[in-house]
Amino acid sequence: MIELAPSILSADFNILGQQIKELEAVGVKWLHIDVMDGDFVPNISFGMPVIASIRKESNLFFDVHMMVTEPIRYVKDIANAGADMITVHLEACEDCEAVIEKIHKCGCKAGITIKPSTSVGELEPFLDMVDMVLLMSVQPGMSGQSYIASSTERIHQVREMIEERGLDIDLQVDGGINEKTIATVLEAGANIIVAGSAVFDGDISTNVKKLCGIVGEYDK
Ligand code: DX5
Ligand code: ZN
Repeated sequence: MIELAPSILSADFNILGQQIKELEAVGVKWLHIDVMDGDFVPNISFGMPVIASIRKESNLFFDVHMMVTEPIRYVKDIANAGADMITVHLEACEDCEAVIEKIHKCGCKAGITIKPSTSVGELEPFLDMVDMVLLMSVQPGMSGQSYIASSTERIHQVREMIEERGLDIDLQVDGGINEKTIATVLEAGANIIVAGSAVFDGDISTNVKKLCGIVGEYDK
């Protein structure tokens, strides 16, 4: 299964609900929701009230990417706000295993993610505990950056690690994915594709159709 996960960080917050409806109408199933705390990353985005508000009107799969120091402090509140999946940064957690357990206990799927500078080997102890690995292909913290080319090899490596262990988990990639880079990450083995500016800059339906057209060639 391959899914496109539009990141609302690039949405027009003045008409966020409308834009989410447009994504639903064009067949999107996942919504990527970037929570930033101004500490783990320099920017601040939004948090629980926004998630709870859009949850009332949407049945999309809410994929919450927490760029937050010690996210364990907020797991319960993010789950209660309506998250389906909560992904945390390995670099931000003192005890990753405890955070993953708490996410599951709160009834959500758990993901783990690393910055481009963190070795993929560090994921190893957590692979059989999580439902998804997210490989950042830009520095976390803002949309509209260029895809870091060395991410492709990292996607290959993590896909291999997953397959060697016979695990059935998702491999997500986030940052700088657009019409030009999407085929590369799909070929490398990613199956959940985050896209912010490539979806929200310009006409949303046209952008999603173009990206999903390319996804369709790999989703066999
Ligand atoms: C960056 C966020 C991304 C961001 C992606 O820290 O995690 O989800 O919104 O934006 P684009 O697709 O524009 O790189
Ligand atoms: Zn993200």
